[in-house]
Amino acid sequence: MKNTLQFNSKTYQLQRYPKTSDASLRAWSNAELLALDFIADLNINNIHIFNDRFGVWNCTLADKNLITVWTYASQQKAIEQNLALNNLSVKVNYKTALDRLGNVELALVKVPKSLELFELFLQQIHKASDNSTTVVCAFMTKYFSVTMLKIASKYFDEVEQTKAWKKARLLVLKQPKKEIESEELVNTIEFKGKEFVQHYGVFSSGSIDIGTQFFLEHLQIQPDENKVIDLASGNGVIAHFVTEQNSKAEVTLVDDFNLAVESSKINLKGKKASFLCAENLLSLHNQNFDLVVSNPPFHFEHENNIEVTLSLFEDVYTCLKHGGKFLLIANRHLNYSTHLKKIFQKVVTVKNNKRFEILKCFK
Ligand SMILES: C[S@@+](CC[C@H](N)C(=O)[O-])C[C@H]1O[C@@H](n2cnc3c(N)ncnc32)[C@H](O)[C@@H]1O
Repeated sequence: MKNTLQFNSKTYQLQRYPKTSDASLRAWSNAELLALDFIADLNINNIHIFNDRFGVWNCTLADKNLITVWTYASQQKAIEQNLALNNLSVKVNYKTALDRLGNVELALVKVPKSLELFELFLQQIHKASDNSTTVVCAFMTKYFSVTMLKIASKYFDEVEQTKAWKKARLLVLKQPKKEIESEELVNTIEFKGKEFVQHYGVFSSGSIDIGTQFFLEHLQIQPDENKVIDLASGNGVIAHFVTEQNSKAEVTLVDDFNLAVESSKINLKGKKASFLCAENLLSLHNQNFDLVVSNPPFHFEHENNIEVTLSLFEDVYTCLKHGGKFLLIANRHLNYSTHLKKIFQKVVTVKNNKRFEILKCFK
């Protein structure tokens, strides 16, 4: 894996977090480099940066006044790890996509896979823009979609595309639209008599995921399953139905994505629930949980990678009490039972259909 980046006659070491054994994956792309090249002559000191997944912008622009809009707990760790690796200050000025920003002179956006999240970023930038604002959105050309242009034109009058360089391109936005309705960018999903609310960018925005629905159809919480984790909890729908079946249950919801956690706080209001924005279960190890339920992730932005998922499975084992259970839904082609059998005493298939399987693992 290539970890060394030469930029402005300096050398940076940039590693991915979580680590990967896939040697083809780097901690930056040509899209971020093209954006750096574009802004080099602008001489702007105050920069808001969005979706700096592993910290390439935080490191290479460390001499500027940066405001970093973060989305993933693992992203914060990656940024801080790479700053430390390059002997740079690890004090990062963080905001979330729901925070109000001070005046934006220059914004750098690595366009996320979720174009809803892209819209949320642009709405946030728009609210803090004036006629001198420049927004540089970077992406790899293979991920371009006309929806990107539509969203950009909703918020800015001037939307220009640069020429491609090494399969990367930029959208440069100027002149924030004057008249724009201020709408809250949330989706509301009606499911089994309850309205689930979720911020833009949270998993499965139009409806409850069909895998999750299959899981919930067959979910049977036992009266003695009181201490429960919903791992990769998204909008909190699984945790909600756990508490519906067992009103004594205390659920800990864990998700790497801060907007998922914020959405689940809304949906679990009034329930015995606690919330953790984290990419692993380290802080819950050895706490004798009765049950872990999950629809685990296997897409990370544009990458499909089960390394993170497999490490979460090992975490689950450590969180459970002896005799505790792990109940999960998975696409059958992922063949998780082979991996789970290496960790758990017993793994059984509770139900399956053409696409999905529900697995129960015993510690
Ligand atoms: C398949 S979705 C399931 C969401 C929700 N449980 C549902 O069924 O609708 C997977 C979730 O995993 C989260 N995620 C990704 N990586 C994670 C990690 N390392 N630790 C915890 N959550 C993670 C994503 O943000 C996403 O919300």
